[in-house]
Amino acid sequence: QDDQFKKVISHAKEYGYVFPSSEIYDGLSAVYDYGQNGVELKKNIREYWWKAMVQMHENIVGIDAAIFMHPTTWKASGHVDAFNDPLIDNKDSKKRYRADVLVEDYVAKLEGKIDKEIQKASKRFGDAFDKEQFVSTNPRVLQYKEKGDAILKRLGKSLENEDLADVKALIEELEIACPESGSKNWTDVKQFNLMFGTKLGASADSAMDLYLRPETAQGIFVNFLNVQKTGRMKIPFGIAQTGKAFRNEIVARQFIFRMREFEQMEMQYFIKPGTQKEWYDYWKETRLKWHNSLGMGEENYRFHDHEKLAHYADAACDIEFKFPFGFKELEGIHSRTDFDLANHEKYSGKKLQYFDPEENKSYVPYVLETSIGLDRMFLAVLSNSLQDEELENGTTRTVLKIPAVLAPTKAAILPLVKKDGLPEVARKIADDLKWDFNVDYDEKDAVGRRYRRQDAAGTPFCITVDHETLENNTVTIRHRDTMEQKRVQIEELREIIKQEVDM
Ligand code: GAP
Repeated sequence: QDDQFKKVISHAKEYGYVFPSSEIYDGLSAVYDYGQNGVELKKNIREYWWKAMVQMHENIVGIDAAIFMHPTTWKASGHVDAFNDPLIDNKDSKKRYRADVLVEDYVAKLEGKIDKEIQKASKRFGDAFDKEQFVSTNPRVLQYKEKGDAILKRLGKSLENEDLADVKALIEELEIACPESGSKNWTDVKQFNLMFGTKLGASADSAMDLYLRPETAQGIFVNFLNVQKTGRMKIPFGIAQTGKAFRNEIVARQFIFRMREFEQMEMQYFIKPGTQKEWYDYWKETRLKWHNSLGMGEENYRFHDHEKLAHYADAACDIEFKFPFGFKELEGIHSRTDFDLANHEKYSGKKLQYFDPEENKSYVPYVLETSIGLDRMFLAVLSNSLQDEELENGTTRTVLKIPAVLAPTKAAILPLVKKDGLPEVARKIADDLKWDFNVDYDEKDAVGRRYRRQDAAGTPFCITVDHETLENNTVTIRHRDTMEQKRVQIEELREIIKQEVDM
């Protein structure tokens, strides 16, 4: 697993997807830059989300709010007081950890043990193996599951009750060791606020203390009435937004999984109080369908209901994805009640109510939120797509099977040789297709090596111009995943590519 993850990270760099930030200065921890292919993949994921959420829903519209917001926003939203991580230091190594993550990693190891039991049994029983029956009856598996559930439940309760002493007690009882030194010598657990502070204005006395937004959601809440009135929106309706968010994360590892500067894609759905359960179920199902539409394997997703609720929620779950380091949160679905709007009313003194013509009364709407990290989705796509394949001739190829709709480059146009007029024809095809698709022209090296390069970069189609092209206007089109090649008319190319890459 670790090896697979390392491969993903080095592949991401080698093929221009993700670079460490300010690398010539040795990088900045948990901050990354996207390269020439990364920026395209990211844009395509954003567009795929936007199309599903905004374009396809008549009652959802988008906005783009500023990153800087009036500082009272964060008082009202609860982030000044409650947006904390419980931190613990190891006394011997002097390293700092998130206490909850240490415990969750311990539970993930138990889950790993369950996976191993399943693998062993499935090898032993072969075709007769019934996984569901096995996990619901095998005593060892049940024991691991019960233990893991009990630990997470206790962690959730302690954090909810701010019982930090019990979080420390839990770490000691489980004998969790510092990953670097193996030491079990821990300090007390302390809360640490995750927001980055900055200043607005130049002169020292008039400068205003600001925060970089830790979520995009608040830009939507404070604009709720602007959009509702100017768009004449009727409840239920949604406002969607994508944009940067910032958190001073302490556990800054796992590549782009947890970053200090990242991008969110959020949608707040404004509903009538009392209907939150029904919309919660609706958005859980709708969002899972969106993920499954990409064809990255239904077995790689699961729901995880929160024991420990964020300060704003009355129900919440994650859609978890199977990353190389196990199932982890990819997207959150939160029933936020009227927590945010009611608090903004209180702090701003402005009414944030909706007049419901059917009920003939005004109320503060409830909110159902879907929130996904764009960078985390990027990592899901990249780690799921990278494969080493054994070929029939005994060699292996590295291929990035990115869903074609998300692939950075849709087709590469390759003249078989660099002479006989083939480059000119290939250029002409590329110049024509680039009006509709992001395409690449490549004439360097033998064609086999060029195919490998495009496979590894994730390009779904390679179009090769050869001598037959000069005779009958046909080219070969090679499919990345199957490596099958077909001879087609040049005029057909646009339609063939469109069929697979259109959103
Ligand atoms: N408005 C609700 C909200 O922000 P969250 O669960 O804190 O909820 C939502 O964050 C999503 O944002 C997460 O599911 C994750 O995909 C992404 N996310 C959160 N923190 C992140 C970080 N430090 N780096 C990358 N993505 C992050």
